[in-house]
Amino acid sequence: MDDGLALHHVGVRFGGLTALDDVSLRVPPGRVVGVIGPNGAGKTTLFNVVCGFLRPESGALTLDGRPLRPRPHRLTRLGIARTLQGTGLFAGLTVLENVMAGASHTARAGFLPALLGLPRSDRDEARLRGHALDVLDGLGIAEHADAAPGTLPFAVRQRVALARALAARPRLLLLDEPAGGLGADDIAELAELIRDLPRRDLDPCAVLLVEHHMDLVMAVCDELVVLDFGRVIAAGTPDEVRDDPAVTEAYLGADVEEPAT
Ligand SMILES: Nc1ncnc2c1ncn2[C@@H]1O[C@H](COP(=O)(O)OP(=O)(O)O)[C@@H](O)[C@H]1O
Ligand SMILES: [Mg+2]
Repeated sequence: MDDGLALHHVGVRFGGLTALDDVSLRVPPGRVVGVIGPNGAGKTTLFNVVCGFLRPESGALTLDGRPLRPRPHRLTRLGIARTLQGTGLFAGLTVLENVMAGASHTARAGFLPALLGLPRSDRDEARLRGHALDVLDGLGIAEHADAAPGTLPFAVRQRVALARALAARPRLLLLDEPAGGLGADDIAELAELIRDLPRRDLDPCAVLLVEHHMDLVMAVCDELVVLDFGRVIAAGTPDEVRDDPAVTEAYLGADVEEPAT
């Protein structure tokens, strides 16, 4: 029952502004949980709390029922990986090297020392390389392994960033607005890929998806949490949330009211 990530009554304030107010949610293993809400609702703030970029003033986090105080540099060791808005790939490394860097904490000798020309274990590096190639293959982009990220279309670069996060073999993946900058076709493909993550044979992982884009969220999430002005105004399956008048008013209403230009 206590499996997975949970937020308990989390509150974050920025000066006089309440960015998160008494927010509770759960991301159990095997599930894709979405957090949606209009601009300014508190989605990125929530993401930053789970990543350890922000310390909540009230409430608590747990992982498998145990207290969790996330620190950005220790996330992968806890089995948590993330992508950020934008891809953040290293331009001077190949696609494969970028993905290997994501898994480097699993190598005994370490991949970064190897990059710097320090003594290394060839066997470790070969194992890491094989694993990174498997991850790229699983996302359908192994053909780009030797390419420089800058030469690839944005949708492929996004997938490389996802591969780098997955190379760490997380059991929980955090995604912040992965559909940003993608066209409709790419979003449909991304949806398929995310939906598969908890159910696949190779390193299945739960997903916490923070996303403004309704179509993606509705297509991939098992459960949704809707934020408005930092508060949870609805939670449930996509169908339940879609039919909730409070959501229509807060979220869809906000979209409809955007001024025509
Ligand atoms: N570092 C910060 N300092 C002050 N206010 C902030 C900061 N980060 C976010 N906010 C405010 O907190 C609220 C929630 O922001 P955010 O979490 O970015 O929302 P979302 O990602 O849903 O658009 C907004 O009103 C925003 O202006
Ligand atoms: Mg945001």
